[in-house]
Amino acid sequence: MASKPVVWITRRLSDATLERAQHDYETIINWDDTLHSPEKLVEMSGKVDAILPCHSEHFTADLVEKLDSRLKIVANHSVGVDHCDLEALAKKGIVVTNTPDVLSDATAEIAMLLMLGAARRAVEGDRIVRTGQWDFWSPAFMVGKQVSGARVGIVGMGRVGQAFARMATGFGMDVHYYNRSRLSPEKENGATYHESLESLLPLSDFLSLHCPATAETKGMMNADRFGQLPDGAVMVNTARGALVDEDALIDALHSGKLFAAGLDCFVNEPGGNPKFAEFDNVFMLPHIGSATVRTRDAMGFRALDNLDAFFAGQTPKDKL
Ligand code: DGY
Repeated sequence: MASKPVVWITRRLSDATLERAQHDYETIINWDDTLHSPEKLVEMSGKVDAILPCHSEHFTADLVEKLDSRLKIVANHSVGVDHCDLEALAKKGIVVTNTPDVLSDATAEIAMLLMLGAARRAVEGDRIVRTGQWDFWSPAFMVGKQVSGARVGIVGMGRVGQAFARMATGFGMDVHYYNRSRLSPEKENGATYHESLESLLPLSDFLSLHCPATAETKGMMNADRFGQLPDGAVMVNTARGALVDEDALIDALHSGKLFAAGLDCFVNEPGGNPKFAEFDNVFMLPHIGSATVRTRDAMGFRALDNLDAFFAGQTPKDKL
C-alpha cells in the first residue's frame, strides 16, 4: 500500500477534525497548541507534504522563499488568508486553500453580539452588577442606542457580510452596503448598494466591517473616514484588525464622535491594544468569530476536503 501523505497540523483543531486527519493521513499534531516561530515553519516544510495552518502562522515572502520543496500545499483552517503571501507561495509552486462559507453564520453572530453589546452598554452594565456597584436605578440610567429599526452600513458584502445583513434585517434594520461590485437582487435581499465608502459612511449609524485585509483595505478606517460617520455612530469589526487605524479609532472614541465600538479583531493578535481597555464603551472579544463546535468542525473538514482533493490529483474546491 502506498504510504499516506504527511500533514502537519499546526494548532489544536477540533476533535472530529483531528480524528479524521489521523485516519486519512500520517499526521504531526501540535497537541500543546503553542504558537510556532518562522524557523519552525521552515524546518517542518522539509518533513511534510502538507501544512494545515491557522491564521496565526505567517507565510511571509521571506519565509516562503526558505520553505523546502517537499511542501506541496498549505490548506488553511481560515477563510482569511492575509497571513499568507499568495504571490510568493504561487511562485514557489505551493497550492493554497482556505475555508469559505462554513464560518459565515458564526462570525455574523459575533458581529451581532458586538453591535448589540456596544450599543446597549454591555461591558459597563456587566461590570456594575458584577462588582456590586449596582446601587441605583432610574429611567436615565444606562441608556444606550437602539439597534432594531436603525440604519446599518456593511463594508464588504461577501458571505459573512450577507449573513450579517440577514440577521440585521431580522432586527428590522435598514441595511446599506458597500462592495467592489453590486450583488444580484437575490443576494442583495433588499439592501441598498453604495458605490463608494464616501456614500455609505455618512448614513451608517451602525457600521460593520466584513472585507478582507488587503493592500487596498489596510488602515481603511482612518481619521478621515471616522469623520464621515454620523455623530454617535457604532463601529463593529469582526474582519481583521488591519482594516482599522487604532489610534484614529481611539481619537473618535475620546471625542465622542463614536458612541461605542465592538471589536473581535486587533492589529496586534493575540493581545489586542491595551489602550482600548480604558473605554467602557468598547466591547471586545479575542478573535472568536468562528469559535463554535459546529463551525470549527466544518472548517476542519473543509480544509481536509481540500487536502483530499489535492492528493487525489484534483483541484481543491477552495484553491486560491
Ligand atoms: C478566519 O477564518 O479568517 C477567521 O478569522 C479565523 O481564523
